[in-house]
Amino acid sequence: MERTLSILKPDVTRRNLTGAVNARIESADLRIIAQRRIQLTLEQAQKFYAIHKDRSFFGELCSYMISGPVVVQVLEGENSVERYRKLMGSTNPANADEGTIRRDFAESIEANSVHGSDSSENAVVEISFFFREIDITE
Ligand code: CMP
Repeated sequence: MERTLSILKPDVTRRNLTGAVNARIESADLRIIAQRRIQLTLEQAQKFYAIHKDRSFFGELCSYMISGPVVVQVLEGENSVERYRKLMGSTNPANADEGTIRRDFAESIEANSVHGSDSSENAVVEISFFFREIDITE
Protein backbone atom coordinates (compact mmCIF):
# COMPACT_ATOMS: atom_id res chain seq x y z
CA MET A 1 0.00 0.00 0.00
CA GLU A 2 1.21 3.47 -0.87
CA ARG A 3 -0.05 6.94 0.04
CA THR A 4 -0.15 10.08 -2.08
CA LEU A 5 -1.12 13.69 -1.42
CA SER A 6 -3.96 15.09 -3.51
CA ILE A 7 -5.19 18.68 -3.70
CA LEU A 8 -8.52 19.63 -5.27
CA LYS A 9 -7.78 23.15 -6.50
CA PRO A 10 -9.91 26.33 -6.27
CA ASP A 11 -11.57 25.71 -9.66
CA VAL A 12 -13.03 22.50 -8.21
CA THR A 13 -14.38 24.01 -4.99
CA ARG A 14 -15.70 27.10 -6.83
CA ARG A 15 -17.75 24.94 -9.22
CA ASN A 16 -18.96 22.61 -6.45
CA LEU A 17 -17.18 19.62 -8.03
CA THR A 18 -15.57 18.16 -4.90
CA GLY A 19 -17.94 15.19 -4.89
CA ALA A 20 -17.62 14.64 -8.64
CA VAL A 21 -13.82 14.49 -8.41
CA ASN A 22 -13.96 12.32 -5.31
CA ALA A 23 -16.24 9.91 -7.19
CA ARG A 24 -13.54 9.57 -9.89
CA ILE A 25 -10.93 8.91 -7.21
CA GLU A 26 -13.01 6.26 -5.45
CA SER A 27 -14.09 4.64 -8.73
CA ALA A 28 -10.40 4.20 -9.50
CA ASP A 29 -10.07 2.19 -6.30
CA LEU A 30 -8.10 4.83 -4.40
CA ARG A 31 -9.21 5.34 -0.80
CA ILE A 32 -9.55 8.85 0.67
CA ILE A 33 -8.11 8.19 4.14
CA ALA A 34 -7.87 11.86 5.20
CA GLN A 35 -9.47 15.00 3.83
CA ARG A 36 -9.75 18.67 4.84
CA ARG A 37 -11.08 21.80 3.13
CA ILE A 38 -8.83 24.80 3.80
CA GLN A 39 -7.98 28.30 2.65
CA LEU A 40 -4.22 28.40 2.03
CA THR A 41 -2.23 31.47 2.98
CA LEU A 42 0.26 32.89 0.48
CA GLU A 43 3.11 31.75 2.74
CA GLN A 44 1.77 28.19 2.81
CA ALA A 45 1.31 28.10 -0.99
CA GLN A 46 4.84 29.41 -1.55
CA LYS A 47 6.27 26.86 0.86
CA PHE A 48 4.31 23.95 -0.59
CA TYR A 49 5.36 24.80 -4.17
CA ALA A 50 8.92 25.90 -3.23
CA ILE A 51 10.33 23.38 -5.73
CA HIS A 52 8.91 25.62 -8.51
CA LYS A 53 10.16 28.92 -7.03
CA ASP A 54 12.45 29.69 -9.98
CA ARG A 55 9.83 28.94 -12.64
CA SER A 56 8.21 31.81 -14.51
CA PHE A 57 4.73 30.72 -13.39
CA PHE A 58 5.53 30.53 -9.64
CA GLY A 59 3.85 33.84 -8.70
CA GLU A 60 0.70 33.07 -10.68
CA LEU A 61 0.59 29.52 -9.37
CA CYS A 62 0.68 30.70 -5.76
CA SER A 63 -1.89 33.47 -6.34
CA TYR A 64 -4.16 30.95 -8.00
CA MET A 65 -3.83 28.43 -5.18
CA ILE A 66 -5.00 31.03 -2.65
CA SER A 67 -7.85 32.34 -4.83
CA GLY A 68 -10.35 30.07 -3.07
CA PRO A 69 -10.59 27.04 -0.80
CA VAL A 70 -8.78 23.82 -1.66
CA VAL A 71 -9.41 20.28 -0.45
CA VAL A 72 -6.29 18.46 0.71
CA GLN A 73 -6.47 14.68 0.83
CA VAL A 74 -4.42 11.60 1.50
CA LEU A 75 -5.13 8.80 -0.96
CA GLU A 76 -4.14 5.22 -0.35
CA GLY A 77 -3.87 2.29 -2.69
CA GLU A 78 -1.41 -0.01 -4.37
CA ASN A 79 0.97 2.11 -6.46
CA SER A 80 -1.22 5.13 -5.66
CA VAL A 81 1.31 7.81 -6.73
CA GLU A 82 1.49 6.53 -10.29
CA ARG A 83 -2.15 5.48 -10.49
CA TYR A 84 -3.38 8.89 -9.31
CA ARG A 85 -1.13 10.70 -11.78
CA LYS A 86 -2.63 8.57 -14.56
CA LEU A 87 -6.14 9.34 -13.34
CA MET A 88 -5.34 13.09 -13.21
CA GLY A 89 -3.95 13.24 -16.77
CA SER A 90 -1.34 15.62 -18.19
CA THR A 91 -0.62 18.91 -16.40
CA ASN A 92 -1.97 20.78 -19.41
CA PRO A 93 -5.60 19.63 -19.87
CA ALA A 94 -5.23 20.19 -23.64
CA ASN A 95 -2.85 17.20 -23.64
CA ALA A 96 -4.74 15.06 -21.12
CA ASP A 97 -6.13 11.68 -22.19
CA GLU A 98 -9.84 11.09 -22.44
CA GLY A 99 -11.47 10.00 -19.21
CA THR A 100 -8.90 11.74 -16.99
CA ILE A 101 -9.89 14.27 -14.33
CA ARG A 102 -8.02 17.12 -16.01
CA ARG A 103 -9.45 16.37 -19.46
CA ASP A 104 -12.98 16.32 -18.08
CA PHE A 105 -12.83 19.08 -15.45
CA ALA A 106 -9.78 21.34 -15.80
CA GLU A 107 -10.14 24.88 -17.13
CA SER A 108 -6.49 25.62 -18.01
CA ILE A 109 -2.90 24.60 -17.22
CA GLU A 110 -3.16 26.78 -14.09
CA ALA A 111 -6.72 25.92 -13.08
CA ASN A 112 -6.05 22.25 -13.72
CA SER A 113 -8.31 20.95 -10.94
CA VAL A 114 -5.96 18.59 -9.11
CA HIS A 115 -2.46 18.15 -7.78
CA GLY A 116 -0.88 14.77 -6.99
CA SER A 117 2.55 13.93 -5.57
CA ASP A 118 5.09 12.98 -8.24
CA SER A 119 6.97 10.34 -6.23
CA SER A 120 6.56 8.24 -3.13
CA GLU A 121 9.32 10.24 -1.39
CA ASN A 122 7.63 13.56 -2.19
CA ALA A 123 4.29 12.11 -1.09
CA VAL A 124 5.66 11.56 2.42
CA VAL A 125 6.89 15.17 2.56
CA GLU A 126 3.69 16.62 1.06
CA ILE A 127 1.39 14.58 3.31
CA SER A 128 3.25 15.73 6.41
CA PHE A 129 2.88 19.34 5.21
CA PHE A 130 -0.90 19.10 5.76
CA PHE A 131 -1.61 16.11 8.01
CA ARG A 132 -0.51 14.62 11.28
CA GLU A 133 -0.55 10.84 11.49
CA ILE A 134 -3.40 11.04 14.03
CA ASP A 135 -5.60 12.72 11.35
CA ILE A 136 -5.18 9.83 8.91
CA THR A 137 -7.53 6.86 9.34
CA GLU A 138 -6.95 3.79 7.19
P1 CMP B 1 0.68 20.88 -10.16
O1 CMP B 1 0.66 19.41 -10.41
O2 CMP B 1 -0.12 21.37 -9.01
O3 CMP B 1 2.19 21.38 -10.00
C1 CMP B 1 2.60 22.70 -10.30
C2 CMP B 1 1.54 23.48 -11.01
O4 CMP B 1 1.96 24.63 -11.70
C3 CMP B 1 0.91 22.62 -12.08
O5 CMP B 1 0.13 21.61 -11.48
C4 CMP B 1 0.15 23.67 -12.91
O6 CMP B 1 -1.18 23.85 -12.49
C5 CMP B 1 0.90 24.96 -12.62
N1 CMP B 1 1.40 25.58 -13.83
C6 CMP B 1 1.06 26.80 -14.25
N2 CMP B 1 1.70 27.09 -15.40
C7 CMP B 1 2.48 26.03 -15.71
C8 CMP B 1 3.39 25.73 -16.77
N3 CMP B 1 3.62 26.59 -17.77
N4 CMP B 1 4.01 24.52 -16.75
C9 CMP B 1 3.78 23.63 -15.74
N5 CMP B 1 2.95 23.88 -14.69
C10 CMP B 1 2.29 25.06 -14.70
